[in-house]
Amino acid sequence: MTPERNPEFFDRWAAEYDWFVEGWANSFPFEGYDKLLSRIVELADPQPGMMILDMGIGTGNLAERFIEKECEVWGIDFSGKMLEEAKKKVPSAHLMQVDILADWPSELKTGFDRIVSAYVFHHFNLETKLKIIEKMLSELLRDDGAIIIGDTSYPSFAARANARTELLDVWDDTEFYWAADEVKLMPWGKGAHITYEQVSSCGGVYLIAPA
Ligand SMILES: C[S@@+](CC[C@H](N)C(=O)[O-])C[C@H]1O[C@@H](n2cnc3c(N)ncnc32)[C@H](O)[C@@H]1O
Repeated sequence: MTPERNPEFFDRWAAEYDWFVEGWANSFPFEGYDKLLSRIVELADPQPGMMILDMGIGTGNLAERFIEKECEVWGIDFSGKMLEEAKKKVPSAHLMQVDILADWPSELKTGFDRIVSAYVFHHFNLETKLKIIEKMLSELLRDDGAIIIGDTSYPSFAARANARTELLDVWDDTEFYWAADEVKLMPWGKGAHITYEQVSSCGGVYLIAPA
């Protein structure tokens, strides 16, 4: 996590976040935002009553889609202002102010059917991403559950390097955009199956299930 991406950074962004994302819907890094959220939901295959955890819930745009499917939604975020926005959009969700990088409260360790996340993990370097995912698998997810993560991502190192060259004036070198081939090369702690789909020019979705 880069130091400037602290809760205060997201607090300042919260009230205008939805407006911002809409305005950037055809541009890096949010090109295909709506499609990416829809694909996360499709892959999650939500059923009424399912326990869903949204990591880095933001203003609640992804969580809202699971509430519509009658799931029981929990959301965590370290920005108090983002949580205030989420409270307006998804008042029935269980919201908690939690830092994904810190210890997780025992209330979360009940077993989720699906853990989802959108546009959050690019704030963490590859090693941290994998550490968190392993922790999600071992501490939060049911054995028959699945993790679905959508984010700024490319199919390969080469595609990411090309994108950086093309987008140099808007590319943020302090963030850690995914490359799917890099992820597949990493060892998976307790073991997991991982699949990847490119959804837009700069966004993709990872489906991770216990082996
Ligand atoms: C780009 S926004 C994405 C919000 C939402 N998931 C969406 O798709 O619109 C990133 C969110 O992740 C949260 N976040 C970033 N790092 C975090 C951390 N270490 N712990 C908890 N939340 C974090 C931010 O506060 C912010 O709400």
